Amino acid sequence: KGKYRPYPKIELPDRKWPDNTITKAPIWCSVDLRDGNQALINPMDMNKKLELFALLLKLGFKEIEVGFPSASKIEFDFLRKLVDDNLIPDDVTIQVLVQAREHLIAKTFEALEGVKKATVHLYNSTSIAQRKIVFGKSQEEIIELALEGVDLVKKYEANHNGEIFLEYSPESFTGTELDFAARISNKVTARWGINKNRKVIINLPATVEMATPNIYADQIEWMSRHLDNRENVIISTHTHNDRGTSIAATELALLAGADRVEGTLLSNGERTGNVDIITIALNMTSQGIDTGLDFSNINEVVKVVETCTELPTHPRHPYVGELVYTAFSGSHQDAINKGLAYQQSKEDPFWEVPYLPIDPADVGRTYESIIRINSQSGKGGVAYILEHNYGYQLPKAMHPEIGRAVQTLSDEKGRELEPDEILEVFKNTYFNI
Ligand code: KIV
Ligand code: ZN
Repeated sequence: KGKYRPYPKIELPDRKWPDNTITKAPIWCSVDLRDGNQALINPMDMNKKLELFALLLKLGFKEIEVGFPSASKIEFDFLRKLVDDNLIPDDVTIQVLVQAREHLIAKTFEALEGVKKATVHLYNSTSIAQRKIVFGKSQEEIIELALEGVDLVKKYEANHNGEIFLEYSPESFTGTELDFAARISNKVTARWGINKNRKVIINLPATVEMATPNIYADQIEWMSRHLDNRENVIISTHTHNDRGTSIAATELALLAGADRVEGTLLSNGERTGNVDIITIALNMTSQGIDTGLDFSNINEVVKVVETCTELPTHPRHPYVGELVYTAFSGSHQDAINKGLAYQQSKEDPFWEVPYLPIDPADVGRTYESIIRINSQSGKGGVAYILEHNYGYQLPKAMHPEIGRAVQTLSDEKGRELEPDEILEVFKNTYFNI
């Protein structure tokens, strides 16, 4: 008793966000190569980094955090390789993480030499716990540290041949008093000097997800109301999934006024991971929003990410898991079957197939795997397989008998049946072969 406390209440008269729906995609930033990589059992080697970077470009990411080059030799070398081999398209901004120390910032700019568009992502911890336990610093000392960092970035920016953007993260934001988070962010933006041609990214990380997702949205809305020069500030989310609600937190934060989303593919990242950008983006796609990201070959994405991270993908992972476009139960199979036939028969493209939130073909998945047969399956599913895989169009009157025969075999074997086994049952039942 008394070990855990309720999260503090946020005073926010006239909350705006619950009345809205998301109507446009945010700016996306992949942190796979930094937050994702730093959490791996075996961090990526150069080849894997290059493979993942190429995938991110192919998917359409325009902002990519490639690492913490001042803290790690391989991340320094990787960035140099991207520059030396001319692998960074002109419309892509390379982001690098750094802390407010001169030797780190100097090294960061050394790594960035020749990069045309770069975001220097400066962070320091601001939460009550970190100030008290880890750093032993007052709020004013933490502000001083952030401002020293800004001054150093400005100093090195002056000699950099290319565009430099600033991102500032009050790290552990979700454990930070809101008025302090706003105060330090406002000091940072004022010191950087912002206007419509020089915007700043204020990234508000749920470094640890500490409350229900509506609270994160309230925090974003509160910050949005309290940041000076708001029109020149890009509010960025960076959610982790400690409570399992990073998707909801990010979506509600977008409704609450956030402009940008940092996350990873398939949710790799510290502890429970960063928010999964694939899910957020395909949630938007399913509501008709053009996300600017191309997930039309999801199997390739999964393959590359699994190879690079050495982490498996859960078969029920939204949109990408092996089983998410599959139905075993008879009533679901029947409804999908009818839905697919209806979809093909009508003129308009509006997707109306029960149990399938998006058209599997839009992510490069095929219909064949939608209906799979085990002892839960009904006659409709068996008929579907026989028709779609082997071209046998069974009269309705035959469906119950073949359905029962297939169910019996699946029960006997105690497992799913392959289409060829279903064909065999069909032949045994009707042709005695
Ligand atoms: O989760 C976090 O707070 C971070 C920061 C460095 C932005 O990854
Ligand atoms: Zn993070």
